[in-house]
Amino acid sequence: MQTILLKDISQYLGQEVAVRGWVFNFRSSGSIFFLQIRDGSGFVQAIVSKKEVAPEIWEACEKITIETSVEISGTVSKHPKKEEYELQVKNLKIIHVAEEYPIGKKEHGPEFLLDLRHLWLRSSKQWAALRVRNTVINATYEYFNQNGFIKIDTPILTPTACEGTTTLFEVPYFDLGKAYLAQSGQLYLEAAVFSFGRCFDFGPTFRAEKSKTRRHLTEFWMMDAEAAFVNHEGNMKIQEELICHIVKKVLEKNRKELEILERDISKLEKVQAPFGRITYTEAIKKVQALGSDIKDGEDLGADDETLLTQDSDVPIFVEKWPRQIKAFYMKRDPQNPDLVLGSDLIAPEGHGEIIGGSEREDNYDLLLARMKEEKMPLADFEWYLDLRKYGSVPHSGFGYGLERITGWMCGIHHIRETIPFPRMINRLRP
Ligand code: 4AD
Ligand code: MG
Repeated sequence: MQTILLKDISQYLGQEVAVRGWVFNFRSSGSIFFLQIRDGSGFVQAIVSKKEVAPEIWEACEKITIETSVEISGTVSKHPKKEEYELQVKNLKIIHVAEEYPIGKKEHGPEFLLDLRHLWLRSSKQWAALRVRNTVINATYEYFNQNGFIKIDTPILTPTACEGTTTLFEVPYFDLGKAYLAQSGQLYLEAAVFSFGRCFDFGPTFRAEKSKTRRHLTEFWMMDAEAAFVNHEGNMKIQEELICHIVKKVLEKNRKELEILERDISKLEKVQAPFGRITYTEAIKKVQALGSDIKDGEDLGADDETLLTQDSDVPIFVEKWPRQIKAFYMKRDPQNPDLVLGSDLIAPEGHGEIIGGSEREDNYDLLLARMKEEKMPLADFEWYLDLRKYGSVPHSGFGYGLERITGWMCGIHHIRETIPFPRMINRLRP
């Protein structure tokens, strides 16, 4: 007999198959046991009828607890009304009887569940969210592979900051003093585009964020992309295509997961190019008119981002930011030296900034002046400045936060549920 994965069960209608998995719920009517089984790939209801099975199988059923692991065989049947398949059990073997499972059906607080993250991962919503995350990852690779981007693995131990010194994690590093955990691979990707033209990286990044918000983790996964001969406009175009590709793939591959998450799919179906565009200056005016007390020159807060996108079905690019509140590497706007050619992409439905990107300052003198102004340790960045000495070209790039995109796809409010083991200021376990 064939052992199958539950995701494939519809192909075995009328056949006898074996399944291995866990009982996540059960009930008994006295003469029938209804066992809800999951195997990691899908779900099935297994039906054990007392008069159809040997007495020892019925006795085994009576020992079953939530999360008991089992091996079952039986005939696949179809639910009379629903598009669901069932297993009419002939044989059942317990692999391990689970102790009383701490996660029940009653409501638990988030801290309780996070303490039990190693078990919480088994819950259907967590299962669904992390499978959507997997689709986002694969769709990203797919888009870049189809569009001539080479994956370059950028270092995690670095001698300098990419995104400013206030959120760096320090690590002692032998005789060389201190190393810092990478905040973004961007600067290294910039070096790589002079060899490969178009590159991306994808890996864990670290920010010692003091902010305890629903959008901040101290360890999160970032994808940075970088391309030579691409300007600010072209940069936004790539982002738009990538995001549309991701949304399309999630809708294609994760119907069941989105249903478990009770996600309003119509919202995702409306995410199509072109995305919205607004300058920073217009954005400030708009959110002020909507009641925000933000002042010109300040960074948009989470509430401002929500206000800004409240009447939009698609993400919105906020572009041309004041240079003082953006990173040193962003290219000055030739039309207004107080601004930079950078953009933040803000997701709808209150999910906030999902991408930060810009054209890069490719002029050696302007870049050096800005770095001096910021009192950056120039010796550590000599290699980065070199890129502007040997065949400098216009180039642009951006970075996305995997957990923020996954949170948006899933309609999950707090991104701690979109990473298997979240790291936050107050959480390092399990
Ligand atoms: O906007 P950020 O800081 O941009 C950069 O790091 C650039 N160097 C990227 C580049 O141009 N290659 O971060 C990029 C994205 C944000 O838009 C956000 O989605 C996510 O990373 N992000 C976080 N996600 C979770 N927790 C945090 N603490 C995050 N900080 C940033
Ligand atoms: Mg940003």
